[in-house]
Amino acid sequence: MTKETIALASDHGGVEMKMLLAEHLGGKGYAVLDLGTDGAQSVDYPDFAVAMAEALAQGKAARGVLICGSGIGISIAANRFAHVRAALIHDAYGARMCRLHNDANVVVFGGRTIGSEIAKDCLDIFLSTQFEGGRHAHRVAKLAENGQR
Ligand code: RB5
Repeated sequence: MTKETIALASDHGGVEMKMLLAEHLGGKGYAVLDLGTDGAQSVDYPDFAVAMAEALAQGKAARGVLICGSGIGISIAANRFAHVRAALIHDAYGARMCRLHNDANVVVFGGRTIGSEIAKDCLDIFLSTQFEGGRHAHRVAKLAENGQR
């Protein structure tokens, strides 16, 4: 069976967590597409949000993980793309809800704000929870429509 590929990208504030989550995903049987950054050198988080948006648009992965120090900057940057629904997650409830109601295709963590075990747990929930659809479907469609304004 073909492994699903999960794309990961971070700035320097999230690079350690990115490595931990890549290892975690590998252990769960996923293929990992690492879009950088690779080290502690200071870089600009919007560049890695662009790399994620392009990878998703090109079909290299259907789902992704973004990380910066707080998770905030890279969330803002990623959500400027109409096909990206990036959810900054702090707990299991958010990880579940961003899939059930928002059909998030990117989960975002703050590398300096969330513990690694909680992030792994949230990532597992994000990946295993299906979108509920129904009354939420037209709301999610409106997100992309608004992105065209
Ligand atoms: C980098 O120091 C930091 O500003 C960045 O990782 C992120 O937290 C921005 O929102």
